[in-house]
Amino acid sequence: MRLEQSLFGTTFQNPVLLAAGTCGFGREVQGVVDLESLGGLVTKSVTLEPRQGNPAPRVAEFGPGMINSIGLANPGAERAAGEKLPWLGANLGRARVFVSVAGHTAEEYVSVVETLEPEDGFLGFELNLSCPNDARLQGLPFALEREALSRVIREVRARTERPLLAKLAPNDPDPGATARAAEEAGADGLTLVNTLPGLVLEPETGDPVLGAGSGGVSGPALRPLGVWAVRRARRGTSLPIVGAGGISATDDALQYLRAGASLVQVGTASFADPRAAARIVAGLAAWGRRRGVDSVKALIGEGPAAGEARPGSPEPVPDPVPVAE
Ligand SMILES: Cc1cc2nc3c(=O)[nH]c(=O)nc-3n(C[C@H](O)[C@H](O)[C@H](O)COP(=O)(O)O)c2cc1C
Repeated sequence: MRLEQSLFGTTFQNPVLLAAGTCGFGREVQGVVDLESLGGLVTKSVTLEPRQGNPAPRVAEFGPGMINSIGLANPGAERAAGEKLPWLGANLGRARVFVSVAGHTAEEYVSVVETLEPEDGFLGFELNLSCPNDARLQGLPFALEREALSRVIREVRARTERPLLAKLAPNDPDPGATARAAEEAGADGLTLVNTLPGLVLEPETGDPVLGAGSGGVSGPALRPLGVWAVRRARRGTSLPIVGAGGISATDDALQYLRAGASLVQVGTASFADPRAAARIVAGLAAWGRRRGVDSVKALIGEGPAAGEARPGSPEPVPDPVPVAE
């Protein structure tokens, strides 16, 4: 099965990327991951000013997943441009790089993008609009408030011609409508999903296990939400989608592709097994060979089926709202 695809004006040699915040700026994992064998990576989110991050402990495991509150620890835009991007430019040729950008205001996103834009070493930006540990000033994460989300995307769009991914949240009751808002504001693609807000307490004391209190849930617990969000977004827009959330095996990646994602990202699984992403690349190729599937593109789930509303029409037919039983 051919794994490569043309997307965002370039070729991805396969559909598997490393997710933001789980591979630093590439260099940090180079000893344990063959980055050039992957479709690419997304850097740690870069903010305007350097951030130290939240108090320890910053990550904890629970049954089917992980919870983290790193607090977007990063060197800030100036140092990312001067110290991090040159390594990526010098060392990666085949793997495609998106730089993740975060901020408290639209102006902060714009300043980060303006600082990084003249540099080499990366393809595009992934706007982190959905970090549960870092809300918009006086509000929810951008991804949960469509006007705020649209404003950030519009303002950044005006300053770069590079591919622009909008990273959306799993706790969004209508990912299709948010996807359309992102498309109308000028995004070239969507990444779904970021972590889900959560809280793990010590049962004996009632104290949170994380230093910051609550955090973002990732890993297998997140997968059904991620697949659902991708399916809903696929029906709301024709933009390419990058699926993330609980992908640790080939079957998980297949679910996201079937739901409508063109690319996938592996995050938490890399902590337990740094070769997880490379294993999934090999697993997809082997799966395709066994099934006689010609190209990964043939697996990617479609938008609305015949009879359903098309992307861009005012009232797409929603999936039935899930009801707890
Ligand atoms: C330790 C950790 C740090 C993360 N940092 C970021 C980040 O800086 N920016 C971002 O957009 N997402 C960040 N994420 C979210 C991941 O990129 C991904 O969307 C999420 O974890 C779901 O994928 P997974 O279940 O494969 O980990 C982080 C996740 C983890 C576990």
